[in-house]
Amino acid sequence: MADKTTVLVIGSINMDLVVRSPHMPSPGETVLGQEFFTSPGGKGANQAVAAARLGAKVKMIARVGEDAFGQMLRGNLEKENIDCSCIRVTEGAASGVAMIVIDSRGENSIVVASGANFRVTPDDVFSEEDAFAAAAVVVLQLELPLPTVRAAIEQARRHECKIVLDPAPAPRAMPVELFRVDVISPNVSEAEILLDAKPTAERVDKQVAADLLNRGAKAVVLKLGRRGALVAAAADGQFHRVGPYRVPVVDTTGAGDAFTAAMAVAIARGEKLCDAVKFGNAAGALACTKIGAQQAMPTRDEVMLLMADQPL
Ligand code: RIB
Repeated sequence: MADKTTVLVIGSINMDLVVRSPHMPSPGETVLGQEFFTSPGGKGANQAVAAARLGAKVKMIARVGEDAFGQMLRGNLEKENIDCSCIRVTEGAASGVAMIVIDSRGENSIVVASGANFRVTPDDVFSEEDAFAAAAVVVLQLELPLPTVRAAIEQARRHECKIVLDPAPAPRAMPVELFRVDVISPNVSEAEILLDAKPTAERVDKQVAADLLNRGAKAVVLKLGRRGALVAAAADGQFHRVGPYRVPVVDTTGAGDAFTAAMAVAIARGEKLCDAVKFGNAAGALACTKIGAQQAMPTRDEVMLLMADQPL
């Protein structure tokens, strides 16, 4: 068997078009915002950059369009030491683009035009046997067509890779095969959509995590934002809370991606899930302290420093 050490990210690459605004516009409202900037994003690419900065050997399977954004986005990933040999250029397609508004509290709202990301096919996944053979962990999100994500899960299982699914953006009626992964890591609002159930005083975090385990995941990591995370594993039926790290929040864009990537890197290193989630919480917190997505991803040293400063 090949030396299984890489983190293989199969996911989206977007150019983020970002504006800061004093508040989120209501329907029909025009708001005068602040500076506009473009910066590399996309949940898949953000996770790949974070994993690489955290010290992992990273490869990506993805597509960009045949345009200037595509060249810039791929070039940026190469600079971050990501193996881009499985990133294809799609003739006649535009690269993915995300329109992002960030409000004065650092919260964001995002609309994505998927472009080439929606041209990543199951064949793109099935044709990359070597990438899966070398992968310790396969990291997935849902900005690609669901049949492609399902193909990636099938392929990862055949190659005995651990599978981490960040189910964002969460679809209604997600196919059952997509729940059958090693770790699924929704935030609370994504979990509500996946389960088609609003949490109530009675339906608290543990119940949500248990419901997700019942759908077939081996472990659930429920991201609770400023409350940290809840970890639940099917094997022992235990729940563990992992506390948050306190940081000054500038922009939350990409914080979930930093979390997922850090958790995957720690899993690839063979760490226990609760320790991997702690590492993820620290990386996610640090990603909130700078503006932008990929440009805000922390290094391993920065994460270790925060963990040492704030022992949980
Ligand atoms: O998770 C943040 C990302 O979501 C942004 O970078 C944007 O591109 C969208 O994919």
